[in-house]
Amino acid sequence: MTIVARLGADPPARLFNSALAAYAVVTAWEVGLLDELRAAGRLDIARFAREHDLHEPSVRAVLSALEWAEVVRVSDDAHEARTADAFPEIYATKGFFGWLLGGCGELLRTGGVVAQGGSWGRGLIRRDAGRIGTGTADFGRQFIDPVLDRMLEGIDYTCIADLGCGNGDRLVRAVLARPGSRGVGIDIAPDAIELARKRVAEAGLLDRVVLVEADVCRLEPRPEFADVDVATCFLMGHDFWPRENCLAVLDGFRAVFPRLGGIALGDTYRSERSPGADLPILTLGFEYVHALMDKYVPTLGEWRDVFPDSGWRCQAEHDVTLPPNTKIFHLVRAS
Ligand SMILES: C[S@@+](CC[C@H](N)C(=O)[O-])C[C@H]1O[C@@H](n2cnc3c(N)ncnc32)[C@H](O)[C@@H]1O
Repeated sequence: MTIVARLGADPPARLFNSALAAYAVVTAWEVGLLDELRAAGRLDIARFAREHDLHEPSVRAVLSALEWAEVVRVSDDAHEARTADAFPEIYATKGFFGWLLGGCGELLRTGGVVAQGGSWGRGLIRRDAGRIGTGTADFGRQFIDPVLDRMLEGIDYTCIADLGCGNGDRLVRAVLARPGSRGVGIDIAPDAIELARKRVAEAGLLDRVVLVEADVCRLEPRPEFADVDVATCFLMGHDFWPRENCLAVLDGFRAVFPRLGGIALGDTYRSERSPGADLPILTLGFEYVHALMDKYVPTLGEWRDVFPDSGWRCQAEHDVTLPPNTKIFHLVRAS
């Protein structure tokens, strides 16, 4: 497969324009343009800019980049934008773009210095936890939560913990789904906890959900954890690794959450493939970003291999369509 076959005619132009269009997806999402187009299928460009207090030339520039990617079509008189063929798929996957360019944008921008490996470069590693959480929640709601909901239907719980809770969306859904239940959200990032607090307040659950800013890999027992009987942990399990650390973290949960009977652990594993033309969304970005951060991403085989020694038994594995290379492991406490 040559680069021309992968990128069509004029590879540099296509690559350049793709990069810009990807940023345009994120901007269009953040300013409400994607939602407006999804709701109405069309919008009056000048009116949209005015009503949302946006700089009209910027809105038009974003629409041009999206038009190049066939996400929208701008009318010949330049008054109106309408959804185009690629819109539904791009709308559904916008969270991946938000994760990469919004959440990890600063890391990608500073990659040249970070890759030099010195302490100054390593010290520049920055990600935006709020945008990461917003991105993962968006694709998680569509592609992960339906599978998780089916798993949770068969499980009794009165107090659910979400480890690495991000913007709190999943925890709120789980608590709302079970009348009388309570929830504990744990995240290391203050920005994520802040977003989660807003989400919990909006849902009217401040009296049923506790949020804890803490490192899931170094938890100590606390009164809030005493009644947790089920835990979810999505898209952060790779942070438990390397293996010895992962074993200690998983085993430690048995003491930290004394009543915990099961964990839904969903994570993206290392793809173990070279980047060919059929590489799906996310994989390249996920592995690139974690390599820059020097974070180990285990393979599926390594995950399967760690459970028997972890104090947890993997009762079932569930597939999700997106993210690619992602499983939900249903772990139950080993006796
Ligand atoms: C990719 S996001 C996923 C968020 C959410 N679980 C979801 O699926 O939408 C990973 C989250 O885990 C949090 N996180 C990463 N390492 C952590 C750790 N050691 N302890 C607690 N939270 C952590 C990050 O701050 C971030 O909010």
